[in-house]
Amino acid sequence: MRRKLVAGNWKMNGSLEANARLLAALLELSAKESGSMKAEMAVCIPFPYLPQVAQLLQGSQIAWGAQTLSEFDSGAYTGEVSASMLSDFQCQYVIVGHSERRQVFKESNLQIAQKLRAAITAGLSPILCVGETLEERESGETLSVVYEQLDSVLNTLDPGSCEKLVIAYEPVWAIGTGKTAKPEQAQEIHAALRSRLSEFDKALAEMTPLLYGGSVKADNAESLFGQTDIDGGLIGGASLKAQDFIDICKAVA
Ligand code: 13P
Repeated sequence: MRRKLVAGNWKMNGSLEANARLLAALLELSAKESGSMKAEMAVCIPFPYLPQVAQLLQGSQIAWGAQTLSEFDSGAYTGEVSASMLSDFQCQYVIVGHSERRQVFKESNLQIAQKLRAAITAGLSPILCVGETLEERESGETLSVVYEQLDSVLNTLDPGSCEKLVIAYEPVWAIGTGKTAKPEQAQEIHAALRSRLSEFDKALAEMTPLLYGGSVKADNAESLFGQTDIDGGLIGGASLKAQDFIDICKAVA
């Protein structure tokens, strides 16, 4: 059985006060549902709140992580945050190569591969995001785009070091738009990614959780998570509402 995971990506949202409220509600709701919850839960939060979240979630069933990291270990890289700094705050996860990092901050496949390697070396569980834009989908390039995003990372790694790898398929046209991929559409790409992964390493392909992200809500989560190769979700907007996030977590069968 593969691990199931639902991770919230808070993006650049929150405040000390709002986080405290959201986390208290998540802890209360998740404790009530703990018997029936099949998925691991995690929240990926803005850097400054790591101490707050580490303190509030310590010992709970909710893990935490960051939304990006530096490819460098330390040194003169103003504004950057390294993998070992994330480990200092007991982060378990870090999102790598989110489409907003690729598009807004111009992160390249090469840089993303270096970041992912830094995460793995520090013992973090990287959530590698791949996904095509609407234009790429409409011109029939979806598979070539996501394969290139995946291959550029895998080519730099040894399969034996990838046991903590998580991959998220997030079609860019579905992020924050309310336009979710149809379950069969998502399944098709997830199956293709798993088979690409099996060319790299069969056992790894079987055990790597493949998450879907892009306008996942409580009312569409069950049909998405019901697909054979969808092992959970990476949730943006709906992860900022405790009841919605928990309902999405509960939709993992
Ligand atoms: P939304 O769930 O808001 O569409 O965001 C998805 C996402 O980007 C998660 O990383």
